[in-house]
Amino acid sequence: MIDACNLFAKLPKAELHLHIEGSFEPDLMFEIAGRNHIDLPYATVEDLRKAYDFSELQDFLNIYYQGMGVLLKEQDFYDLTYAYLVRVHADHVDHVEIFFDPQGHTERGVSFETVITGIYRALVDGKEKLGISFKLIMSFLRHLSEESAFETLADAKPFLHMIDGVGLDSSENGNPPEKFEQVFQACRDLGLKRVAHAGEEGPPAYVWGALDSLGVDRLDHGNRSLEDDKLVARLVEEQMGLTVCPLSNLKLCVVKDMKDHPIRTMLQKGLLATINSDDPAYFGGYMNDNFKALHEALDMTIDETVQLVKNSYTASFLPPEEIAKRLAKVDMMVKELR
Ligand code: ADE
Ligand code: ZN
Repeated sequence: MIDACNLFAKLPKAELHLHIEGSFEPDLMFEIAGRNHIDLPYATVEDLRKAYDFSELQDFLNIYYQGMGVLLKEQDFYDLTYAYLVRVHADHVDHVEIFFDPQGHTERGVSFETVITGIYRALVDGKEKLGISFKLIMSFLRHLSEESAFETLADAKPFLHMIDGVGLDSSENGNPPEKFEQVFQACRDLGLKRVAHAGEEGPPAYVWGALDSLGVDRLDHGNRSLEDDKLVARLVEEQMGLTVCPLSNLKLCVVKDMKDHPIRTMLQKGLLATINSDDPAYFGGYMNDNFKALHEALDMTIDETVQLVKNSYTASFLPPEEIAKRLAKVDMMVKELR
């Protein structure tokens, strides 16, 4: 008889909220900085890790943009992405929908082509060698202008066959979704899926904005939706996927203690919540570490665990027949393991 605690580790699952630049482990960062002859403002990997102490989202973002500054060549983006795939393969992740932040690189003079071809080549190799299917989501940085987002979309035009969707990330407060209404409409016209970070630090009004102004197909975080009953009813009715990130929430002080994490409440209300790692190199863990942290704090049941794992496929952008296959596989494994 299996308990919930080792069940999550064994089941196949999808990751739907992962910033590839947030999977940049200090060892690899030092290695790439070395080969690109870039000095990091830290003497050792340990010194760098000590800087990962955040009291809000902006503290983290400052370090995150500094870290990605050593990525210059196509091979750098390949190595970053392939390292992530190898790591989550060990957690039985068999489908990923990853974000990348092109403006964090083009602003530094690295071409869009360099970034996307490195990431995409690793994703194709990961599919072939590790059996991990993928979707690629280009995120706009919301602290920059909508004009800059339009320029990024123009850069992306020759590579649209590699891109499944667009997202919205970076500093939430003061940068409401409405700021990007036009560019999201243009992305919709191109047939791209749309997601946005909302309700991580920002108020429920930002979640309404993501739904009504941007027409999102899925919401990233969404924690603060719970403050608005009408909003919760809408998200439940539409079965809108929420990509929740427990260790990120703890590290960025969205929750004070993992025991206060709202994941159980979300499930009880009927929200399509999923578990994800966000920026695992900075927040202390990958997919299974996030499940483990919830189990230790909240003593999750087998039913809750299976629900979260199945939600990861239901909320994905895989075609319906593929979702059905993956769900059937989870059901079969749960039956065998019970
Ligand atoms: N970029 C990378 N991680 C992020 C997060 N958790 N929120 C907003 N922007 C991000
Ligand atoms: Zn995120």
